[in-house]
Amino acid sequence: MNSKFVSVATAAIMTMAAGAANAEPQAEVLHWWTSGGEAKSVAVLQQEFDGRGGTWTDMPVAGGGGDAAMTALRARVLAGNAPTAVQLKGPAIQEWYEEGVLADISSVAKANGWADVLPPSIANHMKCEGTWCAAPVNVHRIDWIWANADVLSKNGIKMPTTWAEFNAAAAKLQAAGVTPLAHGGQAWQDATVFEAVALGIGGADFFQKAFVDLDPATLKSDTMVKVFDQMRTMRGFVDSNFSGRDWNLATAMVMNGEAAFQIMGDWAKGEFLAAGKKPGVDFLCASTPGEGFLYNVDSFAMFSVDGKDKKDGQLLLAELIVGKNFQKVFNLNKGSIPARVDVALDEFDSCAHTSAKDMADSNKGGSLLPSYAHGMALRGAQAGAITDVVTAHFNSDMSSADAVKMLADAVANSL
Ligand code: GAL
Repeated sequence: MNSKFVSVATAAIMTMAAGAANAEPQAEVLHWWTSGGEAKSVAVLQQEFDGRGGTWTDMPVAGGGGDAAMTALRARVLAGNAPTAVQLKGPAIQEWYEEGVLADISSVAKANGWADVLPPSIANHMKCEGTWCAAPVNVHRIDWIWANADVLSKNGIKMPTTWAEFNAAAAKLQAAGVTPLAHGGQAWQDATVFEAVALGIGGADFFQKAFVDLDPATLKSDTMVKVFDQMRTMRGFVDSNFSGRDWNLATAMVMNGEAAFQIMGDWAKGEFLAAGKKPGVDFLCASTPGEGFLYNVDSFAMFSVDGKDKKDGQLLLAELIVGKNFQKVFNLNKGSIPARVDVALDEFDSCAHTSAKDMADSNKGGSLLPSYAHGMALRGAQAGAITDVVTAHFNSDMSSADAVKMLADAVANSL
């Protein structure tokens, strides 16, 4: 055997041996962050993962709110081929845990002191029977109203602080030829507007009873009738092409002045920022009229997989996700605020400061509530039953009285 061949062969064997001992961490990551602002945000995680020697396989499933991503996840798990890491949140984490398909990431949580840096309200969503089964990336707020600053000032309009003011402003804008409300007619977007209206009109106790406790009397109450009345009014403020429009295209309508307002979680801010727009200058943010704070915590769960490279990938990802630097940079791009309590907000904008302050105040005042529309309050069947009614009402001439009856029936049948 010539010596050259020997040395090549030896090198190959050595490389293989090294590969087996130090298999690179691998992660196939299923998520629905495909808009400009979202993609920029998730890229931060991929870069950190790559920087630590990991190999990231991206599995983006387009579709705001994640309905399509969750359908893709079910198909993968049923086929016995779960992705390593999945964007998953709220009670859906527990639902998957009960299927016996989630990996335990408690070792990372303990080694990195998650219990000391995450507020208990967030940590609880990440635990399954005492073990850590998900890692949180952020706190998004749902009850926001975004506006084009120029359009408002040209029309002599201030950010509305009551629903009556919102309706008056919208009527004035409509008369001036501006679309008052940028909206995309997708069920989850209808639900997003609906829950902000419900919190605003009904208040925190009403929201809790209706969308957390599923109290039948509250679901068909006069207050709920008023909520649907306001939804009917809002329907009159959207343009005729709203059906099926993606949320980020609705945000673009506000950016380019075609529309004045959008009611959407603060991932919309991520979109404004990615387009180089400045808060307080180009666009305005304010909480939707009324009390309270609807939170939506994005997180990743790890699915049971075989192979040291994949298991290492899961632990590395979990560590990075709750890491201080990631929580800062990701959330600066995403429009949300960090889940960790010890990340300084100096580099964050005024909307993020409002969010952090309002979250702390509502926590004290008992009006910090989980978003039902974004899967934080209810399991899939109940949330889906409510959204079906909301969207059926918004897209027809159904009366508010019929809607509340249908709502109470749909929830009862889903239990
Ligand atoms: C939410 C998610 C956000 C954002 C939004 C639009 O459910 O929590 O992070 O991505 O959908 O896709």
